[in-house]
Amino acid sequence: MAPDLKTVFSFCLLLALTGKCRTRIASLDIFKSHGGAKDNPLMQYVLNNSLREPPVLEKLRLKTFEDPWYFIMVAREQAQLMANLARLINTTKAIEIGMYTGYNALSLALVVPENGRVVGCEINENYTNMGKPFFEEAGVYHKMDIRIQPALKTLDDLLAAGEAETFDFVFIDADKQNYGNYYEKSLQLVRKGGIIAIDNVLWSGKVVDPAEDDLSTQSIDNLNKRLHKDDRIDLSMLTVGDGLTLAFKHW
Ligand SMILES: C[S@@+](CC[C@H](N)C(=O)[O-])C[C@H]1O[C@@H](n2cnc3c(N)ncnc32)[C@H](O)[C@@H]1O
Ligand SMILES: *[C@@H]1O[C@H](CO)[C@@H](O)[C@H](O)[C@H]1NC(C)=O
Ligand SMILES: *[C@@H]1O[C@H](CO)[C@@H](O)[C@H](O)[C@H]1NC(C)=O
Ligand SMILES: *[C@@H]1O[C@H](CO)[C@@H](O)[C@H](O)[C@H]1NC(C)=O
Repeated sequence: MAPDLKTVFSFCLLLALTGKCRTRIASLDIFKSHGGAKDNPLMQYVLNNSLREPPVLEKLRLKTFEDPWYFIMVAREQAQLMANLARLINTTKAIEIGMYTGYNALSLALVVPENGRVVGCEINENYTNMGKPFFEEAGVYHKMDIRIQPALKTLDDLLAAGEAETFDFVFIDADKQNYGNYYEKSLQLVRKGGIIAIDNVLWSGKVVDPAEDDLSTQSIDNLNKRLHKDDRIDLSMLTVGDGLTLAFKHW
């Protein structure tokens, strides 16, 4: 009989403390429908009983699964949560930092009104091109403002264009070593009461014990610790997917 997850987890935690089980603990820490929890019955239960994926998003997801990097795509259950939050605060302007094929950007574009806008930051146009037909099919491509250049440059451009404090929702999901910079610029761009969602804050569990040469994990861990003390925001760190922090900018 297979040991239950808690037993395996406790065993790995014990080994992890002695530095022997990093990858094992990692795979258990990702609760993501097309990642570590793909075949988990509890994950299936969550999807079966709460997912309301629009058909066009399902099509984009299945197309993205053909790409060898599909696993970096946002989890559908997480995108749904963020779309619900964006709708709750009447989002008209959003920023997606790291678009990939555009699953979450499309999910946001479906939520913002006709006069709304989603700025998509991406450095690899091949990815955004893969998603484009699905934005067109959904009739929301006119809401997209896709900028193919380093995301930091795009955030600086938006600030220089006088768009500080005009965005409602930002999703940070690009190169991890720039997370601190993305957060600071996003905080300037978001209005009071706006939300900054930060992905991969648990980084497969590695944040618990960052290796000395692992700059991505260190960067995420540093930001996590900074956010906890940051009195410009309220926050929650959720264990959905690979970890998602929600930062709510104070009024
Ligand atoms: C985890 S994926 C994003 C997934 C996406 N949010 C989704 O909805 O599926 C990260 C993306 O960030 C992009 N990226 C990496 N460095 C970047 C940078 N400096 N500026 C903009 N995009 C970057 C990568 O090409 C990759 O497509
Ligand atoms: C989820 O739905 C699928 C398809 O209907 C079904 O085969 C599976 O047993 C369900 N699993 C759970 C845990 O609800
Ligand atoms: C969102 O817009 C609706 C309709 O205009 C309004 O009733 C509601 O109070 C707004 N909600 C927030 C959080 O601003
Ligand atoms: C995009 O795809 C083309 C054609 O397959 C390839 O030559 C190019 O290197 C790709 N660009 C990037 C940034 O991956």
